[in-house]
Amino acid sequence: MKTIIKNIDPANIDMEIIEEFGKMLARGETVIFPTETVYGLGANALDEEAASKIYKAKGRPSDNPLLVHVADIDDVEALVEVIDDKAKLLMEKFWPGPLTILFNKKDIIPDRTSGGLKTVAIRMPSDEIARKLIRASKVPIAAPSANISGKPSPTKAEHIIKDMDGRVNGILVANDCNFGVESTIIDLSGEYPLILRPGCITLEMLRQVLGRVEIDPSLMSAKDNIRAKAPGMKYKHYSPDAQVYIVAGEEKNRIKKINELIEENSKKGLKSGVLCMKKNSDQYNCKTFNLGESYEEAAHNLFDELIKLDQEGIDIAYAESFEENGVGLAIMNRLKKSAAYRIIEV
Ligand code: TXA
Ligand code: MG
Repeated sequence: MKTIIKNIDPANIDMEIIEEFGKMLARGETVIFPTETVYGLGANALDEEAASKIYKAKGRPSDNPLLVHVADIDDVEALVEVIDDKAKLLMEKFWPGPLTILFNKKDIIPDRTSGGLKTVAIRMPSDEIARKLIRASKVPIAAPSANISGKPSPTKAEHIIKDMDGRVNGILVANDCNFGVESTIIDLSGEYPLILRPGCITLEMLRQVLGRVEIDPSLMSAKDNIRAKAPGMKYKHYSPDAQVYIVAGEEKNRIKKINELIEENSKKGLKSGVLCMKKNSDQYNCKTFNLGESYEEAAHNLFDELIKLDQEGIDIAYAESFEENGVGLAIMNRLKKSAAYRIIEV
């Protein structure tokens, strides 16, 4: 397939390009576009055949439902049974932005989009290119992250062009994504709201608006992970070819332990790498992958650095652990999955 690739400047959005790509989506074609979280691989959410193309391009299991993107709050009504008060509150407070809300779907959403579920996950991105594109297409856009299934989500255009050129009809190339981890997913259907995937809209922020909110308990351990309520959270995910381990414990001990492991690996001819905060990057006797100076920066950089592990031919990577609060919860969730829940406690 010939992929049309166009650059677009977020500071000066070229509406001719937006119209061209919007028409591609309206015709049932696939387009990769930027959002504030990660790049999405989009197609018409109401068109079963178009949605099928997404699964094919990603190599995604067909029971994993797609997330639907809208340009405006008013677009939700046509897609869902009811918008209850809690959902209204969240939409007012956090949309446009990186929060995905589950609703009971109307029949207009085909099974191919919802993965056969009765619910549909909807979000309204804050990225202006994304919203203008959805508006130009005149349909809701189903768009999972634009990675090959199982790999880290793409936050930079170079990731996408490498993996997806030839697999989709169009790629809109813009700046790097802002948040870097995918949207928070919330399910309001139970006794209390449940976070199915942590993201940059944090548990603390959601509790401020809704009161009691909990995290899907199956996200916390490998054993329970097969029961994750968001189907995509149970699959092998965010996995570079390198074997990743999280190292937890007091910083001084952690650095010592990692350096011992690096030495053992090098005796076996294995190349080590460390995913660490900038302040520690000269503490390790191997190549380091710098996550930045704050949790926000680490979220922004995480997928890019995971992708770089493979580009550098790393066999075994150690990741410094993060406190599991605020954005740290989202970072640790992605890290645990990329490490297949292997954690070394020191
Ligand atoms: O930030 C994001 O959310 C990005 C950008 C592109 O918007 N999208 C994204 O999509 O991360 P995806 O498909 O990679 O992840 C969506 C997750 C999957 O784990 C999927 O299983 C879950 O949402 N999901 C979708 N619909 C669902 C539903 N009806 N019930 C439960 N989980 C659902
Ligand atoms: Mg994904």
